Amino acid sequence: MDSLFRGTLWTILILFTLPHLACNMLCPGSCLCNFKGAVKCVGDAITDIPQNLPVHTYLLQLNGTQMNIINEQSLAKQYLLLRFSLTYSHLHAIHPNAFHVARQLKSVKLSSNDLSAISARVFSPLATLEQLHLDGNQMETIAPDMFEGLVSLLDLDLSRNKLTSPASDVFDGLTKLTFLNLGRNSINKLPPTIFHSLTNLLQLMIYNNELEELEAGIFDKLVNLVELKIHHNQITILPPQVFWSLNNLKTLTLSSNRLQAIPEKTFYNMPKLTKLTIYNNPLLSLPDQLMGHMPDMTDLYLYATNLATVPGNVFANMSGLLRLNFHLNDKLRELPSDLFCCLPKLEKLSLKSNDLLYLHPQLFSGLTTLGILLLNDNKRYFLVKFSFEGS
Ligand SMILES: *[C@@H]1O[C@H](CO)[C@@H](O)[C@H](O)[C@H]1NC(C)=O
Ligand SMILES: *[C@@H]1O[C@H](CO)[C@@H](O)[C@H](O)[C@H]1NC(C)=O
Repeated sequence: MDSLFRGTLWTILILFTLPHLACNMLCPGSCLCNFKGAVKCVGDAITDIPQNLPVHTYLLQLNGTQMNIINEQSLAKQYLLLRFSLTYSHLHAIHPNAFHVARQLKSVKLSSNDLSAISARVFSPLATLEQLHLDGNQMETIAPDMFEGLVSLLDLDLSRNKLTSPASDVFDGLTKLTFLNLGRNSINKLPPTIFHSLTNLLQLMIYNNELEELEAGIFDKLVNLVELKIHHNQITILPPQVFWSLNNLKTLTLSSNRLQAIPEKTFYNMPKLTKLTIYNNPLLSLPDQLMGHMPDMTDLYLYATNLATVPGNVFANMSGLLRLNFHLNDKLRELPSDLFCCLPKLEKLSLKSNDLLYLHPQLFSGLTTLGILLLNDNKRYFLVKFSFEGS
């Protein structure tokens, strides 16, 4: 009786202690393992995925290793692994069948490596994959069926590569995708239908590329898009109505391009817009109708352009504007007298470092809530008496 009881006690004790012991004992060298199954391995000593990982490993992060190749069996037997990352490791090859043994993966991050060619369909077994990061590699092209089969993919990062002209069907079938980053590549051409499958996309990054134009209709299917970043390209013209399907857009960046003109009504049908950047473009003029109703816009920066003047109603639809930074425009000489007619909430207005010559006495008369007005460094302008309503 007594010995049976003692035996049971020992069994209980061992059962409770074992996982902790096992966890500490089985964590491979160069790795840190936590009891929940997260394993992080760092350093040159690692040349392949450590063999004796804890059985319940669900997260494996390898960083700064010498693992240059993912072999056919590297990921074998990691039945519970859901998130795998191998970064800063000069990875240059992936066996075509490397992911056949790890079909359950939800996240694969291979950022900051030396991948230049990835065999087509290498990721295709990963039907439940939600996140794929290939940013910071050397890819110049993407095989047309590279992402085929990734029906669950939500997040795809291809930034910081050497892509020049992705094919029109590379993203076909990625209907669940919500985030796509193509920024910091050398893209000079995007086919008009390239994004047409991406009806659930929320964020699209194309900044820091070499685009000279946007094709008509390119964003037409992105009806859910919230953020579109196209700054730092070489875009000279925009097709009319190119953004007209983007009724949910909150952020649009077009700054640092080569726009000299913008077509009429370009920013219509974006009632939720809160951020629009068009500064640092050699704009010569703006059309009489440009901005649609955008009551949530609070800050606008319009500087480093070649504008000599602007239409009197250009800000009229931005009724919620709090801060307007309309400065550093070398050639800006004249402002229409009704320019600030419809900005009842404006708190800060900067007109500094323009080339203003004359300001209409009624120019600021509607700005009843203005707290800061900057007019310094306008070489030519001479002071006139302004009237501020209610003051
Ligand atoms: C990975 O390694 C790189 C370079 O050695 C380092 O800059 C980075 O912070 C590391 N990242 C993580 C998550 O440890
Ligand atoms: C202001 O927006 C409305 C609706 O979007 C539009 O009809 C009107 O023409 C716009 N005004 C200007 C000056 O663009």
